[in-house]
Amino acid sequence: MNWNMSLAPAPAGSVADSSGFDDTERERYFTFLENAGLWRRGEKRVTGHIINNFLAKYPIDPSRPFGVYDVGAGDGTVLSFSLREIIKRLRPFGIPLRIVIKEFSGEDVLVVAKKLAAIINYYPLTTGTISNLSFAKAHAVDFSVKDGSNAKPIIHETFRLESGNVETQLAALQPFAKSHWGSILNSKKQKVPEKAVAINLFHQDMEAELAGVIPQLGVSSTMYHDVVIISQGYAAGAKLSTKVNAVGPSVKSLVPGGLAFVTHWFGDDDGDVLLSKIAPQFHSGRHSAQQVYDAVASNLAGIDRSTIEYVARLLPNYRFRMPAEEITAQTVADAKETFLYAGQVGKIYEAAANEAGSLAAIAEFLRVNRGATFRNEMAVYRRRLEHV
Ligand SMILES: C[S@@+](CC[C@H](N)C(=O)[O-])C[C@H]1O[C@@H](n2cnc3c(N)ncnc32)[C@H](O)[C@@H]1O
Repeated sequence: MNWNMSLAPAPAGSVADSSGFDDTERERYFTFLENAGLWRRGEKRVTGHIINNFLAKYPIDPSRPFGVYDVGAGDGTVLSFSLREIIKRLRPFGIPLRIVIKEFSGEDVLVVAKKLAAIINYYPLTTGTISNLSFAKAHAVDFSVKDGSNAKPIIHETFRLESGNVETQLAALQPFAKSHWGSILNSKKQKVPEKAVAINLFHQDMEAELAGVIPQLGVSSTMYHDVVIISQGYAAGAKLSTKVNAVGPSVKSLVPGGLAFVTHWFGDDDGDVLLSKIAPQFHSGRHSAQQVYDAVASNLAGIDRSTIEYVARLLPNYRFRMPAEEITAQTVADAKETFLYAGQVGKIYEAAANEAGSLAAIAEFLRVNRGATFRNEMAVYRRRLEHV
């Protein structure tokens, strides 16, 4: 079967490729979120649960693949929690699932690739692509072009999976990611990809079935997605223009009727209390989901309120319950890094004097409160049907 990937002309324009996140505290953030408290109510599961609820009622078009684009997928936890309902609905019709991921970090690529392989095992009509291409190009994984401001040629690799041990099959990904998925500092001292890289993953037995769905090397493609996931895709303290750069081009790649889930740390919660113990002078410069949407709908050519509507806003809470005996020095240090990372207050923190004092204050807070409660804000956008 030859599935047509093109529904509309490619969105024009290129934007600066930064989310306000840099790489240094990323691993501590994931460690903290993964290990702290009751995972069942953890942030990533809650985000996935909400997306599942929306997708349970999403009108599927059986004449084309179902497209999902995850922007800054991290370790892929949100993605893998988000697809249960939709796979249940695609399976009876044999509709291919096409997952496109933009991820900056070589370490996260290794983890997210394993999650993708598990999804492919569970639903073999899935094809996955991971790239570090710019926001303007990543959604389409346009292998035919060079990427980046200095037009780097795109390095690519295909991983054909068999059933069985995924670790062994993805062993080759490690040296590949190590040599190609690195970052350098640009002239503005921002971390940017050193090379433009993309990989395809699919089950080897499905290659023929997925013809026309798998992004082809050397072929110019424009892919449009049913679902865009941007989960903690930009830091709370990032500039509004940075947030718009992450959301705008991604939202442009929705099919008519397609949904985007844009989730960020809302604050006004224990996370803010903890941050105040680390850097009392901190002010996050947060923007509400409505402000981000308003900026997306007014700043970017080709997107406005007649194209993309803001259909829902949720404020999910998630609680880490931590019995006192589970709060180790490592948990406390990871908690500190997590909020510095999410709040982007690294520079302010460097200027703050008392590290030992702030760690003791965090430990005390976590003990007294037996954990902490955090709040996200999630906006759901929909591309209007009359706009192709
Ligand atoms: C805070 S983590 C969130 C990960 C995941 N979406 C989640 O909710 O768990 C942000 C992720 O975005 C990635 N990232 C940051 N800037 C990026 C960019 N410009 N392009 C692609 N990925 C980026 C980081 O490497 C990191 O994995």
